[in-house]
Amino acid sequence: MARLKHILEAQQFNRLWIEKTLFPAADKMRQMVLKGRVKQLLKNKSICLLFYEPSTRTRLSFQNAGLLLGAKVASTENAKEFSSVVKGESLKDTIRTVNALGFDAIVLRSDVEGGAVEAASVSNVPVINAGDAAGQHPTQALLDLYTFYRHFGRIDGLKVAIVGDLKHGRTHRSIAYLLGKFNRVTLFLVAPKEFQMKQDILDYLDSHKVSYRQVSKLSEVAKESDVLCLNRLQTERLNGKKTKFDGEGVKLTKEILSSLNKKSIVTHILPRTSNFNELPEEFTGDPRVVIFDQVANGLYIRMALLKLILRPG
Ligand code: NCD
Repeated sequence: MARLKHILEAQQFNRLWIEKTLFPAADKMRQMVLKGRVKQLLKNKSICLLFYEPSTRTRLSFQNAGLLLGAKVASTENAKEFSSVVKGESLKDTIRTVNALGFDAIVLRSDVEGGAVEAASVSNVPVINAGDAAGQHPTQALLDLYTFYRHFGRIDGLKVAIVGDLKHGRTHRSIAYLLGKFNRVTLFLVAPKEFQMKQDILDYLDSHKVSYRQVSKLSEVAKESDVLCLNRLQTERLNGKKTKFDGEGVKLTKEILSSLNKKSIVTHILPRTSNFNELPEEFTGDPRVVIFDQVANGLYIRMALLKLILRPG
C-alpha cells in the first residue's frame, strides 16, 4: 500500500497492510505500554483533536496515544459549541486554520457524513476520521478487527454477527467493509428491517463475493457465530422520528450467552446503554465478553496509526 496519508474510510486499507504492517505495529505498542517503556517516537509532533460530536473512548485514546508517544496534543472536545463554528465558520476554514497553526495531524469527529473527506480535501496534513455522523468510523473498526485477530489468530473463515442498529452504526458499516477483504468470512447482519444495513454495504459485499445473511433475531445465528459485534440504537440519528423498536431480538440474553461456543467472543463498540440494554451489566465478567480488551486495543491501534502516519519507515 502506498504511504498512509489520510485515514478516511475502511475501504482504503488492504489486508496485507492490515496484517503485515498495522497489527505488528500495534503489537509493538502493546508491548511497550505493558512494560511501561514507550519510546518517544512522536517527539516534536503535534496533533489537533477536533470533536464535533460527543466521545469518550475515541478522544481519550487518541489523546493518550499521542501523549504516550511524546507528541503534543491539543483538543477541542465540543467543537460544535466551543469553536468558531458557532459563529458560522465552515469546516474547511477551521481545517485551514489548524493547518496554519502548524499542527502535524488532525483527528476529526465530524457531525456530517463525508466531513472527514471534505476536511482532507483542503488539509495539507493528515486527517484521521474519528467518526463522521452515520458515515464511517475506520479506526474503531480496525481496533475491533485487531481484537478478533488477537483472539483467533486469524480473520479468514470467521463467522461474525454484526448486531443492532446497522443502518446508522458507523463502525458496523466500516467493519463490514474491512471483513469483506478477508477470505471465507461469513457475516450475519442481525437487525429488524427498519435498521438493516444500507444498500451501499450490501452492494460492496456482493461485489466482493462475501457470504452474508440478513436475519432479525440474534438467537437464529448466535450458536454458529465466532463473534457477536453489538452496538446501541443510534437514537441521535433518528432526527426526532419515533421508533417502536426496543431492541427485541438483538440483545444479549442469558439464553444467547449460554448457546455461544466457549471460544466465541462478544464485542461492543461502546457506549452500551441502559435503556436499550443490549449488553446487560451482569454479563460483564463473562470471559467471552471482551469489551474492555477492545478499549485497550484501541489505544495500541491508535498509537500504531499515529506512528505510521507521522513517522513512516
Ligand atoms: C461509537 C461511535 O461514536 O461511533 N463509539 C465509539 O467510538 N467507541 C459508537 C456509538 O456511539 O454508539
